[in-house]
This record gives sequence, C-alpha cells and structure tokens, in this order.
Amino acid sequence: MRSKAIITSALPYSNGEIHLGHVASTYLPADVTTRYLKQKNVEVYYICASDDYGTPILIQSEKEKKSPEEYVEYWNKRDHDDFTSFDINFDFFYKTSSVENNEFVQYVFKKLESSGHIYQNDIVQFYCKTDKKFLPDRYVIGTCPYCNADEQYSDLCEKCGRVPEEIGNPHCSICGNTPVKEKTNHYFFKLKNFSDQLLEYLESNNNLQTDVKKYVQNWIKDGLIDWDITRDISWGVPVPVDNVENKVFYGWFDNHLAYISSTIKFLKSIGKDGKDFWNDADIYHFIGKDIIYHHYLFLPAMRLGIDSEYKLPDFIPTRGHLTLQSKKISKSRNWYIGLKDFLQIFPSDYLRFYLVSINPYSQDDLNFDWDEFSTKINSELIGNLGNLVNRALGFTVKTFDGLVPKPEVYDELDIESEKMIKELADKLDELLQKNHLDRALRKILEFSSHFNQYFQHKEPWKKEHGTNSCVFLSVNAVKSIAIAIYPFLPKSSQKIWEQLGLDGNISEKNFEEISNISIKSGHKIGKIEPLFAKVEESIIEEQKSKLGSK
Ligand code: 2FM
Ligand code: ZN
Repeated sequence: MRSKAIITSALPYSNGEIHLGHVASTYLPADVTTRYLKQKNVEVYYICASDDYGTPILIQSEKEKKSPEEYVEYWNKRDHDDFTSFDINFDFFYKTSSVENNEFVQYVFKKLESSGHIYQNDIVQFYCKTDKKFLPDRYVIGTCPYCNADEQYSDLCEKCGRVPEEIGNPHCSICGNTPVKEKTNHYFFKLKNFSDQLLEYLESNNNLQTDVKKYVQNWIKDGLIDWDITRDISWGVPVPVDNVENKVFYGWFDNHLAYISSTIKFLKSIGKDGKDFWNDADIYHFIGKDIIYHHYLFLPAMRLGIDSEYKLPDFIPTRGHLTLQSKKISKSRNWYIGLKDFLQIFPSDYLRFYLVSINPYSQDDLNFDWDEFSTKINSELIGNLGNLVNRALGFTVKTFDGLVPKPEVYDELDIESEKMIKELADKLDELLQKNHLDRALRKILEFSSHFNQYFQHKEPWKKEHGTNSCVFLSVNAVKSIAIAIYPFLPKSSQKIWEQLGLDGNISEKNFEEISNISIKSGHKIGKIEPLFAKVEESIIEEQKSKLGSK
C-alpha cells in the first residue's frame, strides 16, 4: 500500500438517473475503499465526473429541445446530488466536457499521433437515409458475430462482453430501417501495436483479478483490432486537426482521460502537482464487468502510447451486475429502483449495508431482493449490531449512571473477548486490503454477535462478580464497531460515536484505534437512542408492487 492513492469509479453518463445497479458495483465499493484508506492515513482522493459526450446524449438533448451543454449540466448536478445523499463522498466530481478534459484529450491525441500510434482510414459506415445520419455505435443494433446473440449494440455485445468488428443483420435503432453504407474518413488508434506491452502489464500486475486477467489475455492472444476513435457528430471533443470539421472523438477515447484531467484540476486547487501525485499513488479504477474491455485494453494502451506519462492502474476492481428480484434491470420496463426514490424511504446506511453484504469481490452477478433486504436489515443490522450497541450502552446508563465501571480480574471469557477486540483491526485490514468488503462487513457482524452472546452469557443484570468486566469490555467493543463500520455505514458510525459520549468526528479516527481498549473506567456514556427503525413488511410489499408498473 502506497501512502497516496487516487480512486475513481466508472463515470456515469449524464443521461438519466442513478439507480441501484450503478451504485452496487462501482460507486459504493469505491467509496468504502476510500474511507478505509483515509482511516489508514493514506492521502487518498476519490475523483469522479459525469460522462457527457456521445450520440445518445446528443439525440436525447435534441428531443428535449435543450442544448447538449444544458442537458448534461442538469444530469451532472442531479447525479452529484443523488450520490451525495447516498454518502458517496467524492473529493471532486467534475465532467468529461470540461475545458481541462477537452484540452487534455487533444494533447493525448497529438502525442499519440506524433509517436506514430494514429492513422487515418476511409471507412464505410452505416448511414440511415430516413434519419439522414451516420449511425455510430448504439445506433445500430444487430447480431453479435462472436456469440450470435441478437439485438446487440454494434459497439458492445452485452452477452459476451466483446466489441464486435461488424454486427450482423444491422438495423437503425431510431427508425428500425436497414441502413446503407457510406464512406467517411476516420482516425484509428493502433491498439494492435500494444499487444505485447499489454500482456506484460497484465502478467506483472498481481493486484488484478485473476479470472478477469485470464480472459483479457485470451482476447489479446486472439488478436486485437485497431480502434476507430472518431465519430461524425458535433457533440464531443473536436479532433484538433486543421480543416477537419464536424468530427469528434469517440466517447471512450475521451472519457477515461477525465480520470486524469479531473484529478489534475482537483490537485491543483489544493496546491499539488497532479502528475507527480498520480505517479506516486496507487491508482484504482472501480468498474462493472461490462466495461472490462475498455479498462483493461484501451485505457492502458493509451497510457502506454503517451510513454506512461501517467502510470497505469494498480487496481481495477471489477464486479458483477445487479439484478433486481432476479431479473435484469431495465429502465424501459420500469424494472429498476432509482437511488433518489430509494433514499426517500430508507436511510442510506440500510442500502449501503445490504449492497455491500451481497457484493463479493468477483464478477458474479448480485441480486437485489426486497425480502432479503428486509431480513438482513431487521436481523443482522438491527437484531445483531444495533442490539449490541443499545444493550451495552443502555445497561451502562441504567445501572452505572452512564459511567463505565472498573473491570475486575478477567476470567477466560473476558480474556477471549479482549483478544477479539485486539485482533479485529488486523483481521479487517487483511480483508479490506484485498478488496473483500463483504467479508470484512461479515467479520464485524461476527464480532458483534460474539459480544451479544458474551453479554447474554455473563448476565450482568444479576450484578454478580464479573459484571464490571462485561460492561467495560462490551462498551469498548461498541467503540471498536463504531470505527470499524465507518467505511460502510458512515452515518450510523458517527451516531454510535456520539452515543458513546466521545468527541470529534469519527471520520478522523485511525483504523488501528479499532483495536485499542481506549474507553477507560469513569468515562461517561452519551445520550442513548435507538439507532435503527425496523423495516416494515407493508412497505416492502408496496415497493414490490411498484416494480414493472408505470
Ligand atoms: O459505461 C458507462 O457507463 C461509461 N459512462 C463509463 C465510463 S468510465 C470511463 F470514463 F472510463
Ligand atoms: Zn433510421
């Protein structure tokens, strides 16, 4: 672990609201990791931006009779607001259509060109005579040449995850007609040239997930194809070549460069040199498995093409997709849950708790299930963790007037429990360093469960010998939990901290403090209130009935 880190997560298109599918695989894991690294005293910044360019956004803005600038500005702000209410704490949220990114993209293009990595070629492109438009990317739908899946976009097969060279049975996604082919001149990036260096990068980076690495290696071995990086539309970063008009870069050429340009802009605002920081830091790009191709091939190849002026990613944590009630999320069929809507019903920590707990560090898909959500919140978050906090602190207030008692000589069970406190930080650290956020959260629940049993077993309400030790250690365990759950449940963690009667902001506590027995006898507990409210069955039923209906 380096002492500096930059964290990014896949940039959201400024083209519609953030839903649970977005946050589960990228924003939440990235936020938890950032908060954890801050606890570890790493100088870490979480940088994100809206992904503003591309044909879909241009067309949608036209439909809404807005300029694309106006359109993306609305979504940039709305997305940021939604993320904020979910306690996704970006250090900086910018946009791919910024002046800084436009300039940086043009700079990268020129540098790639002068190093011989770019060439021009006439290509034949689909053109819709009805809509009088070239039809790049998503505007052509057809059959994937690799896996034969129907109804796939021409720029990405969602079934096999590959980028088709040429889609079969093409039709225009606007009007459904079969497009014709017309000639146009485009710029190409020599992706093929980087095959060896990419293989070397994958081979030497032990932080990348092995299974993802394997199939990216296979793609490379099957042979990469050069990459068409321009489009004949007006909305995008203009190609900086004299006499070239109405040609912009493809969104996937410019968007990931905003990871860098936004970082530089942010670091400059706090008086730091962006390039130096980037190259000294651990670089994390959190993504969902649908954009592996772009992050394991295009992105590193482009960085290699500019002589690794900005270093390649150290981590590309890649997770699966969220399904909803075991069905694929679909906005058009209203089979999705908007983040904003969810947070109007339940606290952000409920969703954070549930999504982390069902989300392994793998590409397996995960499923949001309303009944499971309710069970996990009621029995694990409230029944286990909330119960311990309430029990230990409530008992201290009731029996000892809120003053933590002086422990007696420890018996075996006390010794075992004290050891658990002392070992918790290291155990969590091991899991969190390896990105196993779900396992770390489970470990905290096991810890809490142990202390619930300990409390039950010791029966301190009988006020016999051993009561003081039990209360003393249980209160300290609650303090360990408060710090340990901060990355996962920041709001609840602060509440526990205050109920413990401790000052300051929990976000400033060091990770190692999880394992200190730092609450001494005589310490006064704060005001106790129930931390959580039960999820009611009727609300769950109501939410279920909303799905799929308009
Ligand atoms: O797939 C998407 O939603 C894209 N907007 C992600 C872009 S990430 C990039 F910038 F690298
Ligand atoms: Zn058409």
